[in-house]
Amino acid sequence: MSKKIVLVGYMGCGKSVVAKMISQIKGIDYLELDKIIEEKESLSIKDLFKNKGELYFRKQEHLLFAEIVSSNRNFILSTGGGTPCYYNNHLWLQNESVFSVYLKSSVQNLFDRLILEKAHRPLIASLQNDELKEFIAKHLFEREYYYRFAKATINVEGKPVTQIAQEIIDLLT
Ligand code: S3P
Repeated sequence: MSKKIVLVGYMGCGKSVVAKMISQIKGIDYLELDKIIEEKESLSIKDLFKNKGELYFRKQEHLLFAEIVSSNRNFILSTGGGTPCYYNNHLWLQNESVFSVYLKSSVQNLFDRLILEKAHRPLIASLQNDELKEFIAKHLFEREYYYRFAKATINVEGKPVTQIAQEIIDLLT
């Protein structure tokens, strides 16, 4: 089984909840990149964007991502929705020591989730609900190029977390 599992995908696709479940089932460490950045900076992602700006966040995100994926630890890592899209981070998804999975969801599904929980996500917090869907559609289109560097793609549409986790575990053998 691959030692380093990395989940990528748009905000709201379920990376964290799926990663936590796989971590429990397989007994491997669960890491969440956003949480690691928050701890290192002693700021929430929201305040980090506000106080230091997105460029600073992307730099820290890149440095910590590279440090984690180049380590010899065993883990399942939930990345941020933008992680593969900056600083050539996407190339790590193809690294031979990494098993990367793109959790693919539709614009409608992402919209339905994000409309309920956009407040703590700085990129979408200030959007009106009627602007959100178009934003997601354009943004997802731009980002899919990077997500597709993952070694596997799982369509998560309408599937329970247990099923998504099991599909990924089945790919690990
Ligand atoms: C971001 C997604 C967030 C977080 C930050 C930026 C993005 O993570 O890293 O707000 O660029 O899509 P989630 O995908 O866990 O919401």
